[in-house]
Amino acid sequence: MEQVKQVNALLRIFLIVLSVYDVGSLGGIRSKSLISYSIPESRQLKKALGYHEDTYLNFTELGSKHGYRTEQHTVVTKDGYILTVFRILSKCRTNARYPVLLMHGLFDTSDVWIVAGKQAGIGYILAENCFDVWVPNHRGNRYSRRHVRLNPNKDVSFWNYSFDEHGNYDLPAAVDYIIAITQRPKVNYIGHSQGTTDFFVMTTLRPEYNYKIQLSILLAPVAWMSNIMSPIPKLLSYMTEQLKIFLDSAGYSELLAQHQLTHFIVEYICQISADAVCSSTLAATTGYKFGTIPGKTLAVAFGHLLSGTSSKSIAHFGQLIQSRKFHRYNEGLRGNLLRYGTTEAPEYNVSLITSPVVIITGRNDWLSSLKDVATLSSRLPNLLENFLVPEPSWSHHNHVWGKDAPGYVFPKIVEYLRWFN
Ligand SMILES: *[C@@H]1O[C@H](CO)[C@@H](O)[C@H](O)[C@H]1NC(C)=O
Ligand SMILES: *[C@@H]1O[C@H](CO)[C@@H](O)[C@H](O)[C@H]1NC(C)=O
Ligand SMILES: *[C@@H]1O[C@H](CO)[C@@H](O)[C@H](O)[C@H]1NC(C)=O
Repeated sequence: MEQVKQVNALLRIFLIVLSVYDVGSLGGIRSKSLISYSIPESRQLKKALGYHEDTYLNFTELGSKHGYRTEQHTVVTKDGYILTVFRILSKCRTNARYPVLLMHGLFDTSDVWIVAGKQAGIGYILAENCFDVWVPNHRGNRYSRRHVRLNPNKDVSFWNYSFDEHGNYDLPAAVDYIIAITQRPKVNYIGHSQGTTDFFVMTTLRPEYNYKIQLSILLAPVAWMSNIMSPIPKLLSYMTEQLKIFLDSAGYSELLAQHQLTHFIVEYICQISADAVCSSTLAATTGYKFGTIPGKTLAVAFGHLLSGTSSKSIAHFGQLIQSRKFHRYNEGLRGNLLRYGTTEAPEYNVSLITSPVVIITGRNDWLSSLKDVATLSSRLPNLLENFLVPEPSWSHHNHVWGKDAPGYVFPKIVEYLRWFN
């Protein structure tokens, strides 16, 4: 505990010095430019370095390599973001069931649902079980880094979003699109981590969307965050405001993107030593227990993770940790009055989620703690089950990449989907 306090103090001083230096050097005026550079995507180099091929293949390529037919769709949100939504066609002739929408988490993409490979990727398993699988990418990640008017490399306002906008704009656009194409009245929803937060936002800010959801299955849900156990986000949350101001003024409104150096380094390190370095990173941030995700899956998955988000997304989570509430982005007193007409950012009212919900959690998940999930589940009016995976080491990513996910989690998902469809 002493150590944590010391690290905290040091981090604070570091950030304050940086912010002061930065703001000072700009004469008190925040820079409006973005740092924009691109590491060239070199498959030849990655091949030569002996990367697992699946590390650098994209969604479409992975699908066809493993024998699945995929489609690529483009969905435009009401506020102009251009999203890529993939589809994995069902392996069955008849398609009598409602489509399934899979929503990825923070720093992630559509690929999270298939990087574990043919036997362990839930995207593939659902297609084998006759489901029509739709996999969106939220605004800002590598597949959805486009806008009808804004340029992500030049316009700071492209990055003015958090999960609030994912839920308020991206998801409704995807749901409506899928309903229009498939001619089915409803979709099933599966979300992981921030993909569950997005769901809570949609179904509370736009409660009419509950009528378009047949069933939702939420893996490692994130809403209330007062009890998260992960030390790094907890520490950073103390300086949410400074951190965001610093990042934005330094030109980093886009964070940890696929074309940035951090991705390149992490991807490389995980190839040479997935078990040591990448496992440790995951352990330090999510509570991950060594050996519960296959080394190859980790190496491949880290080639697809860190695909870009906004500084505001991180700041919004920081606000939730500090405020101990589940609320819309706090824009400050004036900003709140302008945006919401209230001095405080309004809370998301999860009592409005009338569609049926299944929650799946793990005991050792440092980002989605059982206490916080209990706060959430006690308020959900139509909760079918709050399922705790009976494996004490279960953590945040075991749901999607874990070697035991096909044993503990996927049968449950398929069973519920069959029952409701
Ligand atoms: C995936 O990779 C293929 C081959 O390089 C490319 O033609 C395609 O445009 C890529 N798709 C996306 C969505 O990036
Ligand atoms: C970001 O968007 C929100 C919501 O539309 C708005 O209230 C806010 O003023 C914007 N902030 C900036 C810096 O543009
Ligand atoms: C939340 O929604 C429920 C159900 O509609 C309603 O009864 C309650 O008053 C709402 N709470 C707030 C704070 O608006």
